[in-house]
Amino acid sequence: MSSVKYQDFRTRVLHEGQTPADWQGSTLPPIHQAAANRHHTAESLSDTFAGKTGEHIYMRLSNPTNKVLEQKLASLEGGAGAVVTSSGMAAITNTCMALLRAGDEFVSGNSLFMSTYVLFANIFKKYAITARLVESTDLAAIEETINERTRFIYLETIGNPKIDVPDLAGAAAIAHRHGLPLVVDSTLATPYLCRPIELGADVIIHSTTKYLSGHGDATGGVVIDSGKFDWQGGRFPDLQPFIDRKGPLAFLDKVWREHHINFGTTQAPLHSYLTMLGLDTMALRMERHLANARQVAEFLASRPEVKWIRYPGEPDNPSHRTAVAQFNDLGFGGVLSFGLADQEKCFKFINSLKMVYNLANLGDCRSLVIHPYSSQYLAFAESARQMLSITPEMIRLSVGIEAVDDICADLGQALDSI
Ligand SMILES: Cc1ncc(COP(=O)(O)O)c(C=O)c1O
Repeated sequence: MSSVKYQDFRTRVLHEGQTPADWQGSTLPPIHQAAANRHHTAESLSDTFAGKTGEHIYMRLSNPTNKVLEQKLASLEGGAGAVVTSSGMAAITNTCMALLRAGDEFVSGNSLFMSTYVLFANIFKKYAITARLVESTDLAAIEETINERTRFIYLETIGNPKIDVPDLAGAAAIAHRHGLPLVVDSTLATPYLCRPIELGADVIIHSTTKYLSGHGDATGGVVIDSGKFDWQGGRFPDLQPFIDRKGPLAFLDKVWREHHINFGTTQAPLHSYLTMLGLDTMALRMERHLANARQVAEFLASRPEVKWIRYPGEPDNPSHRTAVAQFNDLGFGGVLSFGLADQEKCFKFINSLKMVYNLANLGDCRSLVIHPYSSQYLAFAESARQMLSITPEMIRLSVGIEAVDDICADLGQALDSI
C-alpha cells in the first residue's frame, strides 16, 4: 500500500493498493501466471496452509495479482477486505451460498439482473432455499417479508434493466433492526457514483466485467466485506468458526475458505490485470458516461418515437429523489432504458444503428444497445418478464464515452428510419 492517504476518489483510484517496490518498480502489478507457488521448506508450506504467512499456495486459492485488485477494490468501496472471482455471477453465488442453508430464506428486490433472477427464483428452489422477491423500492414490503428464516436482504444499487434506485440507507436500517446484513450488487453504480457501505450496506458485489474494467475485455467479479456487521447476532451459527478465526472478516473468510476455493470460482490473473488497467481510468470514464447519459436522455425525451424513458436523472422519475440523495452530484448512471411503439420498431431501430453496438453487455466504453425481451429474457415466462418490467417495446442502452453528438446522431438517424 502507498503510505500517503489520498482523499479524492480520482486520485485514490490510481494510487490505492500500489506497491511498486514489491514489483521491482513497475507501475503495474506483474501477472503471476502460475498454477502453484513453490515453498523452499516443508515448514513454510505447512505454515501457509495454517494461514500463518500470507504466502500463496495454488492459483485456485489465491494469487498475488488478484490480491492487488482485491486491495484496490476493497479500499475504493470503503470495505475491510475483498475476494475477486471469475465473474459477477460467481461473486453473487458465493455470497449467497456463504449465508444460506437448506430451509433458509432471503428477501430480494425484484429489480434484478437476468442470471441473478434465475439463480434466486429457479435454481435455489432446488436446494430448498426461498428468495422472497418484493418491489425493490418498497421498504414496507421488504420489512413485512422478513421472518425468522430470513438471512439477508439483497438489492441492486441501480436495478438492471429496470433502472430503479432503492433506498439503501432505509433498507440497511430495516436489515440491521432484524439482525440481518444488507447485500448490494452495485455493478451499475460503481464506487465512483455511490458507496453503499457509507449508506449502511454490509456486503458489496460487483461484476467487474462492466465499468470497473470498462473495455469489455475481462470477465470478473468481487465480493467486498464492510467488516462492520455483527455476525454473532444469532442468525448465523455456522459462521462461528470463521468469527473465531477472522473476527470482523468472518463472512469474507467463509466466502473464500468454504465457497470460492471449493466451488473453484477463481479469477484468472490476466483478467485481474486487465481490470486494474481499466480501473486506472475508471473515474475519468465514469465522468463521461454520466455526462453523456444525461444528454442522451434529454435527446431521447425530445424524440416523438420514444414513448417513455427510464433514467433516474429525470426529475419526474420515481427514483429521482433517492438517486439524488445516494449518488454523487455528477450523474445518475450510464445505463437507461426506453420504449418505442413495439418490438418491430425496436428491431428496425437496432438494425439501423451504424455506430452503437447491439450486444449483451453494459458498462463498456462503447455505446451498446440490446432488446432484452427477445434476447436475454427470451426463454422467460411472461409473468416473470412482467415482474422484471421486461416488455416487447423496451430497449436498454448503455451510454458509452464517445463524443455525445456522435451517439445522439446515430440514435437519431436510427429513430428516423423507423
Ligand atoms: C447488475 C449485474 N450483476 C451481475 C451481473 C453478472 O456479471 P457477470 O456477467 O460478470 O457474471 C451482471 C451482468 O450483466 C449485471 O448487470
